[in-house]
Amino acid sequence: MSQNDIAMIEKALEGFLPNDDCLEKSVIDSMRYSLMAGGKRVRPRLTLEFSRLCGGSDEEALPLACALEMIHTYSLIHDDLPCMDDDDMRRGRPSNHKQFGEAVALLAGDALLTLAFKTVFSGLNADNAVRRAKCAEILAEFSGARGMIGGQIIDLASEGKPPKLERLEIMDRKKTGCLIKAGCLMGCISAGVYDEECLDSALHYGESIGLAFQIIDDILDVTSTAQQLGKPIGSDNEQNKATYVSLLGIEKCRNLADEYTDKAIKSLEKFSGDTQPLKELALSLAKRKI
Ligand code: IPE
Ligand code: IPE
Ligand code: MG
Ligand code: MG
Ligand code: MG
Repeated sequence: MSQNDIAMIEKALEGFLPNDDCLEKSVIDSMRYSLMAGGKRVRPRLTLEFSRLCGGSDEEALPLACALEMIHTYSLIHDDLPCMDDDDMRRGRPSNHKQFGEAVALLAGDALLTLAFKTVFSGLNADNAVRRAKCAEILAEFSGARGMIGGQIIDLASEGKPPKLERLEIMDRKKTGCLIKAGCLMGCISAGVYDEECLDSALHYGESIGLAFQIIDDILDVTSTAQQLGKPIGSDNEQNKATYVSLLGIEKCRNLADEYTDKAIKSLEKFSGDTQPLKELALSLAKRKI
């Protein structure tokens, strides 16, 4: 099932990219290079699944799902830059700046961010206009200075500082949790669900799997191989970054990730539809090896 969804998301992503031959082709090639390089497509899958859970259509949810994946991909391009994590490999290939140079990588990231907001409004009509506007607001809020970017700046500012679990958690709720939460919320809104209780539950689900997701990212950074992950390992250590693993050790981290996964699954109880796909998604992310 998820393979079909991934194929559907990737087809839609390709369709949203400009494809004409023009003078600015180098930046478009660079956007396509990172956007179409694979990846687990976790965030857009969350948007689709929450939309389905709330009775929405895939057609309505897809532009929102793709917009989120564009923002995520831009965040990865910038995250790998020498001024940030300085990583040379991403999604199994040379990082964007290694392939295209820093200036183009920077601009490709910017262009994916702006394309995301155009994509939110693709297929706009009188029926969906309010839902799309609400999603644009969510996307901006959760990816901006109080969201993902906020987490990235806390991450940079923490390098070399004495590690504190509390600060790490705040950072991870933002740098990783926020885009995941945005995916969950936009799925509900896309289906026309504004009910506070449902949105709160979706937010809690996203918050919990977001934390589990980053804890596992930190574990894989020390236990996996670059070939398996498609990105360098040992990067956090090299940069003197505090992570869940450096603070708690692997064993405790695994237990904590399982606890957050259970919490996520519990928060689905408020929904009356079929929550099985989102349960399975949470469990598969907890067991992930890539
Ligand atoms: C990597 O995200 C960055 C983090 C927030 C941990 P993913 O692990 O979802 O990366 P892709 O999209 O599969 O490449
Ligand atoms: C990245 O966190 C989070 C964002 C890109 C917003 P990491 O720096 O841990 O992600 P990886 O390990 O490089 O994928
Ligand atoms: Mg980083
Ligand atoms: Mg990084
Ligand atoms: Mg990491």
